Amino acid sequence: MESPNPDRGASESPAGPESWNWDPESFRAHGHRAVDWVADYLARVGELPVLPAVRPGDVARGLPEHPPEHGEPFDALLSDLDRVVVPGLTHWNHPGFFAYFGITASGPGILGELVASAFNTNGMLWKTSPATTEVEQHVLRWMLEMFDLPRDWFPQLVDTASIGTLVALAAAREAQADLEIRKEGLAAPGHPRLRAYASEQAHSSVEKALITLGLGQAGLRKIPTDESFRMDVRALRQAVEEDRADGWRPFAVIATVGTTSTTSVDPVSEIADLCREHRLWLHVDAAYAGTAALLPEMRAHFAGCDRADSYLMNPHKWMFVPIDCSAFYTAHPDVLQRAFQLVPDYLRTEPAAHATDLMNYGVQLGRRFRAIKLWWVIRTFGVEGLRSRVREHCRLARELARWIGSDDRFEISAPAPFSTVCFRGRWPGLPDEGEDAANEDLARRVSGHGPVFLATTRLRGRTTLRLAIGNLRSEESHVRLAWELLQSEHAAAGENAG
Ligand SMILES: Cc1ncc(COP(=O)(O)O)c(C=O)c1O
Repeated sequence: MESPNPDRGASESPAGPESWNWDPESFRAHGHRAVDWVADYLARVGELPVLPAVRPGDVARGLPEHPPEHGEPFDALLSDLDRVVVPGLTHWNHPGFFAYFGITASGPGILGELVASAFNTNGMLWKTSPATTEVEQHVLRWMLEMFDLPRDWFPQLVDTASIGTLVALAAAREAQADLEIRKEGLAAPGHPRLRAYASEQAHSSVEKALITLGLGQAGLRKIPTDESFRMDVRALRQAVEEDRADGWRPFAVIATVGTTSTTSVDPVSEIADLCREHRLWLHVDAAYAGTAALLPEMRAHFAGCDRADSYLMNPHKWMFVPIDCSAFYTAHPDVLQRAFQLVPDYLRTEPAAHATDLMNYGVQLGRRFRAIKLWWVIRTFGVEGLRSRVREHCRLARELARWIGSDDRFEISAPAPFSTVCFRGRWPGLPDEGEDAANEDLARRVSGHGPVFLATTRLRGRTTLRLAIGNLRSEESHVRLAWELLQSEHAAAGENAG
């Protein structure tokens, strides 16, 4: 294939004391080489083993012990990607990556990152880079239309869902206005202890946020789930009432649309009713499944989400935007502002009409131009293009579930509403622990071949295999290969555990 870069292969300018100061032509030449390198990497990523064959310390041993005293030529940097980095990478871009939740560096997303770095703006205030703030909020409002969520929600990007949940719970805490926690802290005399509620299937970031906010692990009460791993709302009601009677101050419920292990969907409408009745902040974590709201046929799973006080989803999970990019929304920007606004003298500006200073709505001050990659992905795919990939992933998951259901050596372990299937190998005659070990072994064996990586989770105390389809490049052939490997390794995994 012909290289688009006429300079490719041209000899590198010698490194010298001035080598850091790239003039535009050096930048162009190096940039072309870097883009060529990336294009070649992406072209062959599907042929590499998903998991690297390295032991801890191997990668670091490939690096010089001391930093270079003098500048190095750009070629040396690129060749170390091949020599040191790629052999130590887990290839999240691989179409056979079926562990956790798949993520993808799509072309427009990668180039959006490049441009954002080139601008290197810091959008802490509107004034410090108006385009950084306005593109971010505008594109996030597009997404409200794309997902059919309330158009008047206040949007901002955060790096990850974990931070979005932290921001949400800080706002929920601030909403307990009579306690004046911002001013007095949590330990002021006479303060009740605050408690939040989430299902036992909620992501660990919820508990971590409460630890970080000083509410402690005791500040989270985990609510049992029904047979489909959905929060049991009767148990939630009972827990809230019990806690109130015992002197706790219930303040927030975190509902999940697409829990991490099984992608179950909490009954958000019923939870919203209860939140309204008890004046609790409702935060919805749709980190993974939020992308599925693109599909009209999936909207029923999002019923009640429009009543959330805060809501998040990760374009960096299933919407083909490179990590990190998490969309956070709230119906109460005033409460976020009460929680977070603290303007030092050097950042005071004349108030400008209709200008939003995003530093007042969260923990971070500095803010990069994270929206460009998201904007470019949406524009390049178009909403319909995004829908068709997500719809195809859901179809592949249904297909896989059908194959599993028709093989009596396997069983489905949970409903699969989106693109993730939980299942188990079965070995009649093996005790539970033996079957658990065999399932672990099966995942290891399948992943050990190279072209496929899948992980396990635990459901109701039992080891469960989990195949999550979310990478842009995953096709039916990759899912079929994973299934064939599962079938062909089943017997050996059972013998090993027996
Ligand atoms: C439901 C859910 N919430 C939150 C997270 C945390 O995401 P992040 O890595 O963006 O913090 C995950 C991660 O998989 C998740 O599945």
